[in-house]
Amino acid sequence: MAYYRIKGGTPLSGTVSISGSKNAALPIICGAVLAGEPCRIENLPDIEDVHRIIEILSAMGATVEQPTPDVAIIDPRGIREYKVSTEMASKLRASYYMMGTLLGRYGYAYVAQPGGCPIGERPINYHIDGMRALGAEVIDRGGFVIASSDHLRGADIYLDMPSVGATINIMFAACRADGRTTINNAAREPHVVDVANFLNTMGANIRGAGTDVIRINGRKELHGCTYAIIPDQIEAGTYMVAAAATKGDVIISNVIPAHLEAISAKLMECGVEVSEGDNGSEFFLRIRANERPRACNIRTLPYPGFPTDLQQPMTSFLTVAIGNSFVTENLFEDRFNHVRELNRMGARITVNGRTAIVAGVDKLYGAEVSSTDLRAGAAMIVAALMAEGTSVVRNIHYIDRGYEHLTEKLTALGANIERVEE
Ligand code: UD1
Repeated sequence: MAYYRIKGGTPLSGTVSISGSKNAALPIICGAVLAGEPCRIENLPDIEDVHRIIEILSAMGATVEQPTPDVAIIDPRGIREYKVSTEMASKLRASYYMMGTLLGRYGYAYVAQPGGCPIGERPINYHIDGMRALGAEVIDRGGFVIASSDHLRGADIYLDMPSVGATINIMFAACRADGRTTINNAAREPHVVDVANFLNTMGANIRGAGTDVIRINGRKELHGCTYAIIPDQIEAGTYMVAAAATKGDVIISNVIPAHLEAISAKLMECGVEVSEGDNGSEFFLRIRANERPRACNIRTLPYPGFPTDLQQPMTSFLTVAIGNSFVTENLFEDRFNHVRELNRMGARITVNGRTAIVAGVDKLYGAEVSSTDLRAGAAMIVAALMAEGTSVVRNIHYIDRGYEHLTEKLTALGANIERVEE
């Protein structure tokens, strides 16, 4: 089992370029199934979750060529298998996107309940209700969801929560349905917009993505296309926090600053300098910090609120703030597993229901800690980078799922990090 050994205390400095968005890449790869021709997807992040979803498509009969790790040419015409097994689905959450794409394209999907990070119960009832509203018969039993329909019809759908996964899954099925679908209270995350743009490039007719009402006019056929994925909002946010936490001076390049407003605002509230720039070919953010942060309160919310995926790295940063910070997790009931690990490093955090009360301490100290999920892993990396002494971060297979070339990127910023293969 691999682990990271990190000697903390070095301010990060230099430039880091952000990779393609994981949470856009995964549905977009699945979405290629909806086309009757090959799609060329560019700016893919070279991460485990992308490798796993490509394996799922290949196992179903699609041909996937990767001339370089950031490009996949997906030809879905060989797909003969409409089933995603428990073994495959358990490897990642995004396997649930095969439900919408297989149903939309072939009228039949047999998909095992998805795996993913252990951060709460994570039901998929909105996905299932959405497929039913479009006229599919859905059987949800024994760890499998079986959806079938010989005629999907557009429908008016209201989501009780603006779920990212349900919004995208319903868009997938609806863009091959007969007539118009409206998704009310839709998720507005940047990756929802990216998936809609991808589908429109394939000939779909989706309007309103990025607002809470999305309208989809179904199409009989979708064609192949070439599409480049947006930069990863969460990877960018993680490096922003790491730069601030180490009192560094870092340029985060290849970002869309508007996607990062919530995190920029909170860092500024803590006293971090955040400035925006444009070097002619891409936008960047510069993060500068040189003193202990001020405490601040965080409440995770659907976009454009503070993203739940950055709550854990931000909590690491706040451990050394002056004063008490209140961090409230509104999306996932079990997303405080990193707290125990941070306390092992000298943090003083208590959890009361959905709120973590972070009493600021002078510094963290290196320790042996474990990643309990993907973003908890990112939180451990941030904590180890800012701590005095050496830390060992274990269970890093979670981190491999979502951060491209982490060792190389952090080393280039001056961090003392080593990946050890046991
Ligand atoms: C996706 C992301 C994950 C991110 C999250 C929120 C992927 C593969 N995962 O997860 O990284 O943390 O968005 O930005 O892109 N809910 C229900 N029933 C449903 C669906 C959701 O009750 O059918 C609830 C969830 O428990 C949660 C909230 O709705 O409280 C939002 O979940 P959702 O946006 O769907 O998150 P995921 O798709 O699981």
